[in-house]
Formats: sequence, C-alpha cells, structure tokens
Amino acid sequence: MTAMPPASTPVPAAVPRHLAVIMDGNGRWAERRRRPRIIGHRAGARAVNVCIDFCLERGIRALTLFAFSSENWGRPQEEVGALMKLFMNALDREVEELDRRGVRVRFIGERERFSPGIRERMDAAENQTRGNQRLDLVIAASYGGRQDIAAAARALAADVSAGLLRVEDIDEAAVASRMALADLPPPDLFIRTGGDHRISNFLLWQLAYTELWFTELLWPELDAATLQSAIDDYARRERRFGLTSAQVADATTEQSPA
Ligand code: FPP
Repeated sequence: MTAMPPASTPVPAAVPRHLAVIMDGNGRWAERRRRPRIIGHRAGARAVNVCIDFCLERGIRALTLFAFSSENWGRPQEEVGALMKLFMNALDREVEELDRRGVRVRFIGERERFSPGIRERMDAAENQTRGNQRLDLVIAASYGGRQDIAAAARALAADVSAGLLRVEDIDEAAVASRMALADLPPPDLFIRTGGDHRISNFLLWQLAYTELWFTELLWPELDAATLQSAIDDYARRERRFGLTSAQVADATTEQSPA
C-alpha cells in the first residue's frame, strides 16, 4: 500500500498535457510604442520561445500555436508580406535548436497557400524533427476550425463513396480521426492573450472540453509567471466532462493508488 504523503508535502499540480494558444496583441503592442505592427510580430516571435521554454521545463507534451488564421490573408498586403518573411526567418533560425531540444515541429492548415519557399521549409522542419518526443509543437498556419471540420466531412464522404465506410458507422471517433491533431490528446488548456474572450475559429472541434483562460496581457509581454498563473488556475479547476461533481470525485478516488 502506498503511504499518503504528510499534509505539508507539496503535491504536484496537474499539468496540462496539451496547451493551445491564441497569440493576440502583437499589433497593439507595437502601436502603443508608435512602431509599425511588424515590430510587434517580431516581439511576438520572441514570446513564442518563452512559451516553448516553459512547456519544456514543465513537462507539457504538446503546444499548438495559432500563428496565422485563414482570415489573416485579408490583412494589408504589407503586413502579410512581412509576416511571411518573419515565418521564413524563424524557420531558418529556430529548427536546428528545436530539434536539438527534442521538439517535434509540424504544421496544420492550408499549406498550399504559402509560397514554395515557406512550404519547403515547413516540410523540411517536419522531416528533420519527426522522431522527437519531448514536445509536439504544432503551428496552425492558414488554419481555420470550420475549414478543419469541412475537410473531415469531405474525407468521410470520400470514404463512404469509396465503400470504405458505412454512413451508419460515422460517429464522433470517425470524425475525430479525420481532424487535425487526431494523434494528440485534445488541448487541456487554451490561453488567449490580448484581452478578447473568443475562440476566433481556432480548434473548434478539439476545444469541446478544454479549459479556457484569458489575459489582458499582449502576446509580446508574455512571461513564465503569466503562463504559471494559467497553469495554477487550471490545476484548481474541476473538469467534469458533463458529469456531476460527485461522479468526478468517485472516479478520482477509484483511480488513486490504494
Ligand atoms: C495576432 O496579433 C498575431 C498574429 C496574427 C501573428 C502571430 C505571429 C507571431 C506571434 C510571430 C511569429 C510566430 C511564429 C510561430 C514564428 P494581432 O496582430 O492580431 O494583434 P492586435 O490584435 O493587437 O492587432
């Protein structure tokens, strides 16, 4: 029988397995400094490293970052062009180090909309880091949650018309297996910086039971203390997945070592 730790022994707080982040506020961060918006995106790229370091230190196994939505193509051409250059430089600069640290990098979204130069770098980053297991880093680029669901619907229809799947066998698992991130646990915790309280067409299917956490801080201001506050808040929450509190307590007791 495992002895209970004395009351004074700190119990490690629940750590999310998968963190999903909307990195909002780069533009405002720059505008407040009377600088062009792209300066904010550059500062945002530094905050990405803060977030990755934090996940590696805390043993968070997957991190999905919303870097560019399908709707972001509609921003002024100058900003889109500068962002593309920033992505290209970040891929050239960071992949070697991410690989060395055991990070597996991959991309979700409409890859075909990016230039051949960026696509090649995305493919190369995925191939180089494929065997890494310490952290799954997913970059959502030209991604949209509705587009993800539509792609899964198309895949289901194609399988039905090819005779590989019966309509009556389409269930949640069949849909989930055709969505982005199908091989990862769903995000446990969603963080959005920048003060807005919405999901903005991010992982609509995958966030069904994710705990949501918002901060007024702008993305370039992100630091480990802010991430720690989010994790601490997460650890205090009761995740019920549609059950009652009593049922959750019973299930937790049953799972505890005798
Ligand atoms: C949202 O802030 C941010 C983006 C659309 C771009 C995110 C890009 C980065 C953080 C830079 C690099 C990323 C990687 C993965 C290398 P916003 O521009 O909407 O800010 P605002 O709401 O203040 O205008």
